[in-house]
Amino acid sequence: MLMQVHISLSGENHMRISWITQIPTPATVYYGTISGNYTSSANGDTNVYHYFKYLSGEIHDVVVGPLKPNTLYYYRCGINTSREFSFRTPPARFPIKFAVVGDLGQTEWTNSTLKHIAQSNYDVLLLPGDLSYADLYQPLWDNFGYLVEPLASMRPWMVTAGNHEIERIKGIHRHRFTSYNARWVMPYEESGSPSNLFYSFQVAGVHVIMLGSYVEFGPDSDQYSWLQADLRKVDRTKTPWLVAVVHAPWYNSNHDHQLEYESLGMKEVMEDVFYRARVDVVFAGHVHAYERFVRVYKDRTNECGPMYITSGGGGNHEGLARRFKNPRPEISAFREASFGHGQFSVVNETHAVWTWHRNGDNIAVAADEVVLRSLASVPTCRIS
Ligand SMILES: [Fe+2]
Repeated sequence: MLMQVHISLSGENHMRISWITQIPTPATVYYGTISGNYTSSANGDTNVYHYFKYLSGEIHDVVVGPLKPNTLYYYRCGINTSREFSFRTPPARFPIKFAVVGDLGQTEWTNSTLKHIAQSNYDVLLLPGDLSYADLYQPLWDNFGYLVEPLASMRPWMVTAGNHEIERIKGIHRHRFTSYNARWVMPYEESGSPSNLFYSFQVAGVHVIMLGSYVEFGPDSDQYSWLQADLRKVDRTKTPWLVAVVHAPWYNSNHDHQLEYESLGMKEVMEDVFYRARVDVVFAGHVHAYERFVRVYKDRTNECGPMYITSGGGGNHEGLARRFKNPRPEISAFREASFGHGQFSVVNETHAVWTWHRNGDNIAVAADEVVLRSLASVPTCRIS
């Protein structure tokens, strides 16, 4: 009866708890720092959505807090249930570790990826789109909720939408992102965004911008003006690291997903914005492989440009994007068609380590590893 619990950061020191029930239950979460002893409670909202002939279960969203950083909380959702969950809040300051994985799906490969991620002791998960691969068949969204619950109920999962989240059927269901928006509410209101499809959050000295590749992004769009306003709010003395997440990669030397509007169009419009803001790293998915570029601006090495990383090998049923273009472009530092996940470990104000972990290897093995210096700490890259 109780299912699909996942949590996400919701403004400073708060966490959103989301879950789905088949029968009506109050949108109430009881929580505290001692197992079984819930000293606080919070109420939230309940929604359902229709999709053609499908009616979802009751989707509950409750924001809890203020919470202490780096603390284990125990919680219970709704009434009449003995199931207790727990989550750990992220630290207030460095170090902090992000797990990064896109195009997850729900296969044996997905299971293997999740197993690896579970062993990584990460603080926050970033998912650059393509979650369930339900592809219109709504019960698969529920299956995905069950599949990720063991991890997503314990650490915040911050997601953005990919093409598989659109789920519009011409003449039958005209709205886009219906299921995604109902099931995966992100802190867009908290970050001044008009849409659940693009938002930002701050955690432990890192400002993370989650963009929507399949939402209007032109200079006159809501997304573009929100991005400009959000970047103006970033104070690099408080949040020295600036990270962005999209679904469709702007840099890609795989044969898959070349020349797509969502990649090239967004790059055309926003690359200058990212460069001028000194974005440190841009994570993407969409291509079912791993690829890391050097710091780049306008297709050339540039020490003040972002590092572009595609981590789209979560494990979905479409399989791997095995063919890379040859010769390898000079700006592509490492590329490989295998399932796995990445870890972005921010050590302090100035240094972070990115590692790529293949499912075929032991979790301790990093197939690719690079140390990043925050652009805010590089004198020659100072924002003028
Ligand atoms: Fe995709």
